[in-house]
Amino acid sequence: MIIGIPREIKQDEYRVAIAPSGVKSLASDGHKVLIEKGAGVGSGIEDEEYQREGAEVVEKSEKIFALSDMVMKVKEPLPQEYPFLREGQILYTYLHLAAAPELAAMLLEKKIIGVAYETVQEEDGSLPLLVPMSEVAGRMAIHEGGKYLEREKGGRGILLGGVPGVEPGKVAILGGGVVGFNAAKMAVGAGADVTLIDINLNRLRYIDDIFKGRVKTLMSNHHNIEAAVRAADLVVGAVLIPGAKAPYLLTRGMLKTMKSGSVIVDVCIDQGGCVETSRPTSHSDPVYVVDGVIHYCVANMPGVVSRTSTFALTNATFPYARKIADLGIEKAVMNIKPLARGVNVARGHLTHRAVAESLGKGYCPLEKAFLT
Ligand SMILES: NC(=O)c1ccc[n+]([C@@H]2O[C@H](COP(=O)([O-])OP(=O)(O)OC[C@H]3O[C@@H](n4cnc5c(N)ncnc54)[C@H](O)[C@@H]3O)[C@@H](O)[C@H]2O)c1
Repeated sequence: MIIGIPREIKQDEYRVAIAPSGVKSLASDGHKVLIEKGAGVGSGIEDEEYQREGAEVVEKSEKIFALSDMVMKVKEPLPQEYPFLREGQILYTYLHLAAAPELAAMLLEKKIIGVAYETVQEEDGSLPLLVPMSEVAGRMAIHEGGKYLEREKGGRGILLGGVPGVEPGKVAILGGGVVGFNAAKMAVGAGADVTLIDINLNRLRYIDDIFKGRVKTLMSNHHNIEAAVRAADLVVGAVLIPGAKAPYLLTRGMLKTMKSGSVIVDVCIDQGGCVETSRPTSHSDPVYVVDGVIHYCVANMPGVVSRTSTFALTNATFPYARKIADLGIEKAVMNIKPLARGVNVARGHLTHRAVAESLGKGYCPLEKAFLT
């Protein structure tokens, strides 16, 4: 198979869809890998590193789309890339089609086989290609929060770990899933006083066990959240109700009780945020202040740690790409159910029920789409 990796062109996107190790594996399986010149530069990977592992570096993305059986990307194609996609081509990337009717229409018209990272799903409902970015964002939340607690950044002038003889900073984490767990890990590592709040008692039991009591766990209710955020120097928002907007757990009223110069990092801002006063911000202008509390609400946090994020993402995405290349898409989805759930469009049909429903269009089971 010919596999092509164009350079990402979306603003502030520095990741790339393959690591040099992935090129080596594909080449050793007998595949040809084309990569656009400079595609890895935003992640600190030079063209020569890809070439050394067997990739051919191509000047123009147009040529990559024209020659490849499978195009691997990070973000959805942008309108300037639409004309390059070819009928029947496999596109393996984050697609988020439910909210992108125009993109969906183009992929359907061109009969693209679109495998969306975000809907690749294991039997237990987990989403393995979303986990790495939650790990990155959770760990970053403490890093960013700690930075804005510095006086010079407008914060309370607190070092999260304290020092002998001085109490540590207090961190309250709302939601103990992948983001919350990773935030807790970093906060504990920094020496902070950590409280984690979740609505799932089994999850709290797990966190209590894993951290051997080093993280205080609390059931999610108004009373506990109010007390935890009042005491906190840093609050991390990390809740998720799949498919729904995040609930406002930290209300405007609670915000008024928080200390001046304390910090909120609302990681779940991509689902609307769990803080009533949150609104999305960007890496170029990441924070704003309400009632003396610094709000950091960047919706694509992993973007600025692009090298780590590229390797984290490709560790998870590459094994599926290799299966598609080795087996062909039809055999791969037949053998690997999580991958089959990732196929959103195939041969002019919408093959993911939830995506079809969101777009208000008909759904066609994948097996049927492949028969037509
Ligand atoms: N800003 C970014 O750059 C960025 C990056 C990655 C992920 N995210 C977002 O972070 C959010 C969390 O992701 P995740 O992977 O940790 O999800 P997850 O499903 O692993 O965890 C969510 C947790 O929230 C808990 N929860 C649900 N309702 C709650 C409530 N009322 N009170 C307390 N806890 C509650 C759940 O029990 C679960 O443990 C998602 O919205 C995700 O999209 C943002």
